[in-house]
Amino acid sequence: MKKIIITIDGYSSCGKSTLARQLAEQLNYLYIDSGAMYRAITLYFIQQRVDWADQVQVKNALASIHLEFVYNQISGRNEMFLNEENVEQLIREMLVAEKVSEVAAIREVREFAVAQQQKMGVQKGIVMDGRDIGTVVFPHAELKIFMTADPAVRVERRFKELYEKNKNVTLHEVKENLELRDYIDANREVSPLRKAEDAIILDNSQLSMDEQLELVKQWVEDAIMEH
Ligand code: DC
Repeated sequence: MKKIIITIDGYSSCGKSTLARQLAEQLNYLYIDSGAMYRAITLYFIQQRVDWADQVQVKNALASIHLEFVYNQISGRNEMFLNEENVEQLIREMLVAEKVSEVAAIREVREFAVAQQQKMGVQKGIVMDGRDIGTVVFPHAELKIFMTADPAVRVERRFKELYEKNKNVTLHEVKENLELRDYIDANREVSPLRKAEDAIILDNSQLSMDEQLELVKQWVEDAIMEH
């Protein structure tokens, strides 16, 4: 069966990664969480005290960053490695979430990440989620999905996810962080979050995971027939 590129873009905590991961598993495709790369770069900047307002520091820091997704047999997931260290847990913490939109808005950071993402798609058979995948990374992807969900549903989902790991997190904090990230992601100068003209909208506020998968698998079949 012909392999295609599937892009899934949308706001934070729409359930993009859950859908993308399951879809990739069922299709036997590679799943890439592009947000993990921006998170890992942010973590490095925080750890190394890089002043990201300073272009020279940013360039030097990027030259010392090696990012790699490594498949974990036990979890069955690709995990993010930063300079040979598994940072999959660390990059999901609030400390990183609070800064990642700022770092992801830097032109040099985006060029660095996008170049690597494009290489991963050369073989096709990939599902990649993010903010600019259908618009910038793979503008010629065969299937583009733009996910949305009711903001209240998104806050609730994100809160549950974070609360499981850290009981100190508050609903208010999560709401503020999500709203701020949405704002920065959609209003930044370089590759802002926007729907590609040819993307199909998937609003999953009221849809179960099985319903979403059924719908999207049909879109995949259609896209393969069309191309
Ligand atoms: O999907 P996520 O929440 O893990 O993404 C983390 C941040 O990275 C988010 O604030 C936006 C940014 N991002 C981006 O700018 N472009 C992408 N392709 C993916 C994520």
